[in-house]
Amino acid sequence: MEWFENEVLWRDLYPLMFPEERWVRAGNEVEWILALAETEIHSALDLCCGPGRHAIELVKKGIQVTGVDRTAFYLEKAREKAQHEGVEVEWVQSDMREFTRPESFDLALNMFTSFGYFENDEDDLTVLAGMYRNLRADGVLIMDMIGKECIAANFQETSSVEEPDGTVFIERRKVQDGWGRIDNEWILIRKGKVSKFCFQLAIYSGVEIRDRLRRVGFRDVKLLGDLQGAPYGWGARRLVVVARK
Ligand SMILES: C[S@@+](CC[C@H](N)C(=O)[O-])C[C@H]1O[C@@H](n2cnc3c(N)ncnc32)[C@H](O)[C@@H]1O
Repeated sequence: MEWFENEVLWRDLYPLMFPEERWVRAGNEVEWILALAETEIHSALDLCCGPGRHAIELVKKGIQVTGVDRTAFYLEKAREKAQHEGVEVEWVQSDMREFTRPESFDLALNMFTSFGYFENDEDDLTVLAGMYRNLRADGVLIMDMIGKECIAANFQETSSVEEPDGTVFIERRKVQDGWGRIDNEWILIRKGKVSKFCFQLAIYSGVEIRDRLRRVGFRDVKLLGDLQGAPYGWGARRLVVVARK
């Protein structure tokens, strides 16, 4: 089993990854995303939509949205949330490498480091090529991830935080493959119970992701340091990519 196929990992991480403030933030993020798109958006694909933070906010703007994710637990959460908010989203359970609906979307999103999950780098290219194929002509891709430069500038082998509910969250990291990958070990201590998850991420510098995007056909690739359009320079905490078909 590959690490991201482990449903227990996503279940256990849910409270940590999706606290209330991250849901609230998604409302602002969608405003910024639509400003970055610089074109009218009628249909959007949220690839690796998780519990639907951005998909639901996009639908509220009158956009037709398809949210794709492979984790059944997150899609259940997404359905519940959409129902609660009284909005309709198309939820599709699929691996990000396999979802295909050519020439169908004005906007493709891939948010919150939902990229670089595969052992084989060719699979990452497959994901990018898929998003290219699924966009209409002139469609826009927006990706948000933690860039290699951000990781290197703030690198800590071990860090820990205590969450408001008392959960202690320890992260251990190892640089692998000449800065091509990071091995992560996440240890959660919750009510005396210890859970440990290991996962590997391929990490991309701004220039590396731009190169990959151009290779699959994207043009006008912009590298930004956040969704509000800060430059991808020293001090950037995120790597945001805006590219056009
Ligand atoms: C860090 S979460 C981001 C969720 C969402 N984009 C957000 O911003 O809230 C990563 C998501 O990728 C999904 N995922 C992991 N591997 C996947 C794969 N191979 N195909 C499709 N989805 C995948 C997980 O289920 C999870 O929802």
